[in-house]
Amino acid sequence: MTETDRLPELAESLRVAARRFGTPVYLTDAVGLIRAAQELRAAFPDPWIRQYSVKANDVAAVVARIGAIGLGANVVSRGEWAIASRAGIPNERITLEGIGKTDADLRAAARAAADGRPLRWVAIESADEAAALARLARGAGVTGLEVLLRFNPAVEPETLHGLAVGAGSSKFGLADDELADAIEAGGGSDGPLRWRGIHLHVGSQLGAVDAWRDAVRRGLALVALLRGGLPGFDTLDLGGGFPVPPLGDLGPRPERFAREIPDLLESVPLDRRPGRLAVEPGRFLVARAGWLVGSVLHVRDRGGRMVVIDTGMTELIRPALYDGRHPIVALTSHGRPVDQVGGAGSRPSDDPDGGLVHVHGPICESTDALGSHPLPVLRRGDLVAIREAGAYAASFSSTYNGRPRPPQVILEEDGRLTLARRRGSTAALG
Ligand SMILES: Cc1ncc(COP(=O)(O)O)c(C=O)c1O
Repeated sequence: MTETDRLPELAESLRVAARRFGTPVYLTDAVGLIRAAQELRAAFPDPWIRQYSVKANDVAAVVARIGAIGLGANVVSRGEWAIASRAGIPNERITLEGIGKTDADLRAAARAAADGRPLRWVAIESADEAAALARLARGAGVTGLEVLLRFNPAVEPETLHGLAVGAGSSKFGLADDELADAIEAGGGSDGPLRWRGIHLHVGSQLGAVDAWRDAVRRGLALVALLRGGLPGFDTLDLGGGFPVPPLGDLGPRPERFAREIPDLLESVPLDRRPGRLAVEPGRFLVARAGWLVGSVLHVRDRGGRMVVIDTGMTELIRPALYDGRHPIVALTSHGRPVDQVGGAGSRPSDDPDGGLVHVHGPICESTDALGSHPLPVLRRGDLVAIREAGAYAASFSSTYNGRPRPPQVILEEDGRLTLARRRGSTAALG
């Protein structure tokens, strides 16, 4: 599937959002969200279970729109669970996973089950966690609390080191020789937990399908093996990781991953195949739909053109944290709209960098740098937009340097701008 660039249609709305709500401001393009969800559903149609990983973008209004398109929510804490609930997603479509689950998180899952509102499942990270959940479930008088085992597939994900959570050396999940202990610690087949299957996640922003294919093969083999002794062990959750490369770059789309599945299933005897398959993407659904608009604060010459803008690692930490790359385009140049794609526009004739401008954020850290981009002549007050800023941006933001959270604006399908979250206040800091 080819993707069209939404910038020509969105540029004016981005400028209006900046004028109306100030900068920095996040804008989510509802049409972009819907298109991504449709593409995902076409690749993994029913009866696939599609869970949105809330960690990618936890703005309740965004989660609500994704829920309304028919996805469930995958959460890692009671905080994310509360957001998913506020977004109107019922517990039966919410899954709880994550390496940081506390007793309070597990107790909440046990209580919800006791109240007759169980989560779809809880994915277990370790034998310790299995024992804790079993104890809390017993305490709440619950039986049959559905769990998956988070399996570390020990593959070599084709992605940045910091995103390669499916590597054997990572802190995530159970190694294959730890699974039996976790089941035992959780009370085995007669305890309060109902073992439903395997959960894995290879990594984020996967550049190829090979490690994913290996991981799925290993996951299928485990389901086939454990199905023998555990009635109802029928689920394989393949996590997320579908990439969003810079527009125009090639990267495997969800359909390319899905194409691997039939052959992999064929390699398992029919009665040992999982009855339920799930995916839980985050980035793919929200990254492209998200924009972060900032204003130019300083224009400098440092042996090349440099600008400092009013947004950076506090709103988008990915470049500083793991060298994430985000294209930046100009929305205005000398106060006038720049409407051509890529923000080319007028450039200084004597530019030594061929039009590339080094863009920096406003934070008192030199790693707060946003890369070099082809930008026109800019002056203080000009507007720029950072692309692909819908995933791991707002949800990963901080108030470092005393900066309140920027507002969240949704560009609705009919072109209206809705304020989904106000700018944080300086009074609430400290
Ligand atoms: C277990 C799990 N599932 C799903 C995801 C979502 O990944 P992505 O946003 O790359 O699709 C993550 C991201 O870290 C994860 O840890």
